[in-house]
Amino acid sequence: MEVLGIDVGGSGIKGAIVNVDTGELITERHRIPTPKGALPEEVANEVAALVAHFDWKGKVGCGFPAIISNGMARSHGNIHKSWLGVRVDHLFAAATGLSFSVANDADAAGLAEMSFGVGKGKKGVVIMITIGTGLGSAVFFDGVLVPNVELGTVPYKKYERFEYYAADSVRKKEALTYKEWGSRFNSFLEFVERTFSPDLIVLGGGASKKIKKYQDQLILKTPVLPAAYQNNAGIIGAAMLATLKK
Ligand code: BGC
Repeated sequence: MEVLGIDVGGSGIKGAIVNVDTGELITERHRIPTPKGALPEEVANEVAALVAHFDWKGKVGCGFPAIISNGMARSHGNIHKSWLGVRVDHLFAAATGLSFSVANDADAAGLAEMSFGVGKGKKGVVIMITIGTGLGSAVFFDGVLVPNVELGTVPYKKYERFEYYAADSVRKKEALTYKEWGSRFNSFLEFVERTFSPDLIVLGGGASKKIKKYQDQLILKTPVLPAAYQNNAGIIGAAMLATLKK
């Protein structure tokens, strides 16, 4: 089956048509910058523009950067606070006339890696961390997702959230070298390791492509692998959500 997968992020809204049986992208990915301020109506308009770009009429799956239960945003992560309590699936359905399945973006990316990528067939505790505007997390035990685990929002030292110290957006904002940022990110992964004793940590998001630049800073007992689908894991997993809808 083919589904349009959309990954809404703090800086870009990305999409592609995905073969959800194989995890392959059928089209090139298309990216639209997230409107400044990321207000619900504005983001919904860009989601509609993405749907129009693909001239898509079928089901849509969407990863969204917040806690999502039953299609509703229960937090607002790094996007506008007015998302709190919004039925994201209904909003995007109204803007496009299509049926939307929505889940947390990192959970979606993790789903793709557990089904087709480096987590495939892995038993035990596997944790996917997505590195971008924020730090997303997805926790799996024997391949089953524990939804909406928010490791990047845990406070660290003087920081209200760990992601304000170690996300990729912080590296850019503070002009950190990969060595400097890598050691911050290592502190985050050490916290993840201490808390969950995972069997595998998978890194996704834009910065997972650059792992060679900071892997020497990652001093952990747990094996750490970049996502097989790198930044596309979020789109592939998003598309898969449409197949899980009851
Ligand atoms: C949000 C998470 C999200 C992550 C990555 C965080 O700010 O709290 O829900 O998965 O950013 O987008």
